[in-house]
Amino acid sequence: MNRINVTTSPSLALIKYWGKSDSVRNIPATSSLAITLDDLHTHTVVAEGLSDQVFINGEEAPIERFVPFFNNLRMATNSDMQFLAKSETNFPVAAGLASSSSGFAALAIGSALLIDPTISFRDVSQFARVGSASAARSVYGGFTVLRKDAEHADPLNLDWPELRVILAIVTEGEKPISSRKAMEFSRNTSPFYSEWINQSEIQFMECIQILHNKDLKTLGPIIRQSYLSMFSTMFTSTPPTIYWRPESVGLIQSCEEMRSEGINVWETMDAGPQVKMICLEDDQETILERLKKTHPKVEFLVSKVGGAPRL
Ligand code: PMV
Repeated sequence: MNRINVTTSPSLALIKYWGKSDSVRNIPATSSLAITLDDLHTHTVVAEGLSDQVFINGEEAPIERFVPFFNNLRMATNSDMQFLAKSETNFPVAAGLASSSSGFAALAIGSALLIDPTISFRDVSQFARVGSASAARSVYGGFTVLRKDAEHADPLNLDWPELRVILAIVTEGEKPISSRKAMEFSRNTSPFYSEWINQSEIQFMECIQILHNKDLKTLGPIIRQSYLSMFSTMFTSTPPTIYWRPESVGLIQSCEEMRSEGINVWETMDAGPQVKMICLEDDQETILERLKKTHPKVEFLVSKVGGAPRL
């Protein structure tokens, strides 16, 4: 039987996507800039099936979440193929570690290549976006952008081998509310939402302009501003969305303390309680040692940037 093995990595946004300009087609309302995390993997095997079925870490996933993705893929490629996909991750899923980005990217690459082995990555990025907008970025490795109102993401030509991400796993449990729902609450009810849309575009443009200098000290404050502005729309929505746990706040404060001592570390967070800390290779050990002492219950993973899909 024809089958495709794909390994992808999750996409961590430095400048966040939060909110849709078209929720049916899953088009982002903000421009995001992200890195793929080389040391975290989703491995997926996709084959032609009798009906669409997706297994994640050994358990069959409810198919509703995948219906728009499969239907759009078949319509766009004029195909009637059905798919059987089995996916394994080496990190917790649905816990705010962007498992949907690497998951849908792997699924999109595998299923699109089964239909058409010559398909372009730009098309695959477009298919992946329908499943999860951040997955449009995971289709490429390294630095990527997904611009507001865009149908597909694009890779950025930038290499920063010294950059590291320390991921603090505060809790492995699944998040109480999906990012998809929380985003709609922000869009429909937060009085700060329209200002978030304005500010995030300014943050994105600033970041793009200075990224090539590879100066974490000037990028860091924009990265921090982006995630905090995003959360301000969650805290002020009805109902409010609060993914943070006491340990998340403790980690944010630890980063602030380290920065006040001159250590170059900048945290960001997504739709979950985990804290991701961005630093340079030379500071990684000092930061990790410190965090393990101040947060003994938290598990830490370290990743480089990279994570181009492997077939
Ligand atoms: O692509 P989704 O629906 O999983 O949403 C991702 C949203 C954030 O992770 C919070 C931000 C981002 O740009 O990845």
